[in-house]
Amino acid sequence: MHMTISRREFIQYGVLLVPAPRMIAHIKSQYFQHGIASGDPLQDKVIIWTRITEKGTAKEKVYWEIALDEQFTRIQYAGNTSISQQSDYTVKVDVNGLSAGEQYFYRFKYRGQYSPIGKTKTLPNSVGINGMQVAVVSCNNWEDGYFNSFRFLSTKQDVDVVLHLGDYIYEYGTGEYGNPVVDRKNFPGHEIITLGDYRKRYAQYRTDIDLQALHASKPFIMIWDDHEIANDAYADGAKNHQSNEGDYQVRKQAAIQAYLEWLPVRARNAQEMRRSFTVGNDFQLLLTEQRATARTCQLRETDKAFFDSNRSLVGGSQLEWLCDELKASKATWKFIGNQVMFTGYKVKQGFKSPKVNDWWLGYPVEQKKLVDFLSNEQVQNVVFLTGDHHESFVLAMHKEDAYYTYKRTATEKPLAWEFLTPSITSRNGDRLSAEEIVTFEEMLHDKSVNPHLVYGDIKRHGYLLLDIYADRLLAQYCYVDNILTRDASETVLKAFELGVGDFVVREV
Ligand SMILES: [Fe+2]
Repeated sequence: MHMTISRREFIQYGVLLVPAPRMIAHIKSQYFQHGIASGDPLQDKVIIWTRITEKGTAKEKVYWEIALDEQFTRIQYAGNTSISQQSDYTVKVDVNGLSAGEQYFYRFKYRGQYSPIGKTKTLPNSVGINGMQVAVVSCNNWEDGYFNSFRFLSTKQDVDVVLHLGDYIYEYGTGEYGNPVVDRKNFPGHEIITLGDYRKRYAQYRTDIDLQALHASKPFIMIWDDHEIANDAYADGAKNHQSNEGDYQVRKQAAIQAYLEWLPVRARNAQEMRRSFTVGNDFQLLLTEQRATARTCQLRETDKAFFDSNRSLVGGSQLEWLCDELKASKATWKFIGNQVMFTGYKVKQGFKSPKVNDWWLGYPVEQKKLVDFLSNEQVQNVVFLTGDHHESFVLAMHKEDAYYTYKRTATEKPLAWEFLTPSITSRNGDRLSAEEIVTFEEMLHDKSVNPHLVYGDIKRHGYLLLDIYADRLLAQYCYVDNILTRDASETVLKAFELGVGDFVVREV
């Protein structure tokens, strides 16, 4: 059950320091060294996942079971599944016939040895009076630090599901992108390009005990961003793909194959990453694939092809699907699980501009189509949940802002709202001087520059905790004070509330 009282305390006291949670017992199982996971929960099904560390033979089966209790006295379903080199010895079972809004326990058995026990939950039919809590995360770079936020999240009983918006791994070689003061080195040490490379990188990330703890305790809903393939990926290339690194399509397919093997998603290919999750009349979460299937090359605003109508980020058929879903949705809240910034913000002259060309703003014709649709159809209560940017932002999106002008203020009724989650570890303004950070944040909050900005923080790491109620949202920014070691505490620094049909997001 939810403990709304504890959440109210967060609001009441504004800032509440939470001590580092007790270390979760890390069960060393010879055959299950990459842990267990669950994902893509629906009302009646959920994917359960593991990987067999030993290279077994095709004849050997992996036993799985899912129960209503941790002692496995009330087993609901069980079965055997095979493993193979073709799927890198990963095991994925789509367990069907489950009850809505129910907590389940699952485990695997191989050569007589049990895996650790995982906990998961199906989607409910309504958020109920206690609401539903979604943790929005993105951008956990191994060489930038420790995934302390994942450990904190793993201990939060109220979190129903983790929404991971991408950059689950980074493709770089050691020392190319990270913080040299952190004693964490990528494996393999070179930039990952082949299927074997991508598999090894996932295997390395999945030895992280904080990430393992989070996977073991909550179901994930996931979408990839660029670094699961290569920096600034688009359908036919990537900024971090050079001609001496082989055929891009081969690399992309390898990256996608490894992702689909190693993560608890139902999709069998890139096209199926586009999907929808609905909780009764309360909310619908729509995810689009924004990197591998339809995105055309990023261009600068000064390029004469910038405004070409055939340039796309999600592409015609996905955009049509998204609009159809939004139009038909009976749900109060419509969340768009989004990899890259939709609304954007401006910087004054003299400040380093963000990478706008990789955002929706870099595809102005397609962005305008979605903005016009939201405006013409008067779709209500649309909220973009966005990763990629590594920094925390709350923004109001107005019709006019599609042109990157920002003339309207956050107190006028917007078309949509956008909440960006900070990175778990990936670098942001954290490595600027304290003075530079203050100057930049003051500029951001200058109403003559960004009248639509509600909140912006460029230096902290953590995640966004979203409480969804039938009539309101509560968005809490949770930050850790340290990513350089595993010794960290967590603070809920900012909380915002948005009621159905509200003109403003209120800080609470
Ligand atoms: Fe990232």
